[in-house]
Amino acid sequence: MQDLISLILLFYKASTIWNIGSDVGKTDPTIVNPTFNVLDYKAIGDGIKDDSNAFMEAWEAVCRVDTSATPTLIIPSGKTFLLKPIEFHGPCNASNIYVQVLGNIVAPNDISEYIKDDEIDDKWLGFSNITGLVIDGFGLINGQGSIWWAPNTCKNAKALRFHKCNGLRLSGLRHVNSQKNHISIFQCNDVIISGLHITAPEESPNTDGIDISQSSHIQIKDSFIGTGDDCVAINGGSSFINITNITCGPGHGISVGSLGADGNNESVEGVNVQNCNFSRTTNGLRIKTWQGGSGFARNISFQQINLKAVANPIIIDQFYCNSGHGCKIQASAVKVSNVTFKGVQGTSITDKAIQLSCSKTVGCSDILLNQINITSTVGGKKTNSSCSNAQGKCINCYPPVTCLE
Ligand SMILES: *[C@@H]1O[C@H](CO)[C@@H](O)[C@H](O)[C@H]1NC(C)=O
Ligand SMILES: *[C@@H]1O[C@H](CO)[C@@H](O)[C@H](O)[C@H]1NC(C)=O
Ligand SMILES: *[C@@H]1O[C@H](CO)[C@@H](O)[C@H](O)[C@H]1NC(C)=O
Ligand SMILES: *[C@@H]1O[C@H](CO)[C@@H](O)[C@H](O)[C@H]1NC(C)=O
Ligand SMILES: *[C@@H]1O[C@H](CO)[C@@H](O)[C@H](O)[C@H]1NC(C)=O
Ligand SMILES: *[C@@H]1O[C@H](CO)[C@@H](O)[C@H](O)[C@H]1NC(C)=O
Ligand SMILES: *[C@@H]1O[C@H](CO)[C@@H](O)[C@H](O)[C@H]1NC(C)=O
Ligand SMILES: *[C@@H]1O[C@H](CO)[C@@H](O)[C@H](O)[C@H]1NC(C)=O
Ligand SMILES: *[C@@H]1O[C@H](CO)[C@@H](O)[C@H](O)[C@H]1NC(C)=O
Ligand SMILES: *[C@@H]1O[C@H](CO)[C@@H](O)[C@H](O)[C@H]1NC(C)=O
Repeated sequence: MQDLISLILLFYKASTIWNIGSDVGKTDPTIVNPTFNVLDYKAIGDGIKDDSNAFMEAWEAVCRVDTSATPTLIIPSGKTFLLKPIEFHGPCNASNIYVQVLGNIVAPNDISEYIKDDEIDDKWLGFSNITGLVIDGFGLINGQGSIWWAPNTCKNAKALRFHKCNGLRLSGLRHVNSQKNHISIFQCNDVIISGLHITAPEESPNTDGIDISQSSHIQIKDSFIGTGDDCVAINGGSSFINITNITCGPGHGISVGSLGADGNNESVEGVNVQNCNFSRTTNGLRIKTWQGGSGFARNISFQQINLKAVANPIIIDQFYCNSGHGCKIQASAVKVSNVTFKGVQGTSITDKAIQLSCSKTVGCSDILLNQINITSTVGGKKTNSSCSNAQGKCINCYPPVTCLE
């Protein structure tokens, strides 16, 4: 009883709002979820004063609560909170943590704010080692990325990075103008991301929408992503990834890889991309791997895809290369197998609607194209395909792919 009273007093001190019976604390609907409003920790929310310390104190209080309810961090609406690079880390005592983002969070407009011990921080907002983290709300996460986008500027900081956050649920937020990736999922299992709206200018470099690495059992759904790089990128060590009902564009499409850079052994398997629309992207559905690497990309399907004025709608490239790594001819490669493209239709702005560039030694196998109809944006012009060292089938394909059956 004494414990209960002191607990209640603690919550009373910490919060102004009582969030009764929120559906986040699924354990028992009668349990009161203790709430922690950043304003009660002296956050100002004028977009000018640094609110990082207030957020960190509020986070520590949330993370400390030992309860079967779900402690809730509230970032209230109608305010803009300036945060410097910050890491909210666990492990926390409660088995679920709820972060409700109703207001805006804005990054510093100065790269020097990211420098710590002579190094540039690789993230702006980090969450690490927290299980059962739920983040939702209608708030805006603004990376103020334009200062990072000039040529020859180091592009290091991921706007929102989740590291070892199993059971993560992220929904509803708007994300704009990240420094580098908008959202990065690293070493997380069991993640659902939904209802996001992610935007950055088409010409902003490296502003991927969502990047996944070394993670598994991830669902990404019901979101709009239009940025300067991949809408979703699935990197090495990732498996069982479902992506559905995404509108992508502008950007570089949905990519598996790149895998196997610098001779690395990297694999991805079990990816399903379904019911997605691409508009004005520079690639549509892409698997890219480097020469000299090892590992595999397998059991991947892309289904029910609409394309509008996409530049390279379907592309498997085992010769992926961009500057800085050296791209000499090498025999080893990341094996690509069991990849299905089914029900892919719409228009391409280039002639080459389908490109399967596979290595002579390792190659691509079990590539199935079915119900493909990709026409040119230019009336009367034909699209075609290129294909090397790929084995598989092409059924009801326009354009035809000659190296497949
Ligand atoms: C968890 O609760 C215990 C006591 O209830 C406390 O000592 C500890 O600091 C809390 N853990 C965190 C991460 O705050
Ligand atoms: C992560 O949390 C686990 C417990 O859940 C703990 O054992 C481990 O030390 C933590 N790792 C880091 C880097 O904080
Ligand atoms: C992905 O979709 C498949 C088929 O609908 C389903 O069996 C699987 O559980 C889903 N995986 C995830 C992580 O959502
Ligand atoms: C698809 O996602 C959009 C948001 O981008 C949402 O409005 C719509 O309801 C979703 N459709 C389905 C069938 O869930
Ligand atoms: C994709 O486009 C089709 C046809 O224009 C439309 O019916 C569907 O709702 C769109 N889906 C998304 C995710 O925008
Ligand atoms: C790549 O890694 C996997 C799993 O760790 C291992 O089984 C495989 O032998 C490795 N391949 C090479 C070429 O190193
Ligand atoms: C091929 O990949 C699909 C997922 O896209 C999977 O359901 C199927 O079992 C795989 N087939 C083989 C033979 O591995
Ligand atoms: C993935 O592919 C491998 C090799 O084809 C197969 O053994 C495995 O069962 C597949 N896994 C899934 C989930 O389809
Ligand atoms: C392919 O798409 C074009 C343009 O939308 C359409 O005119 C044509 O009938 C389609 N072909 C098939 C086989 O569906
Ligand atoms: C594809 O079409 C373009 C333009 O019509 C042509 O230049 C190119 O040689 C064709 N490529 C193949 C592989 O047929």
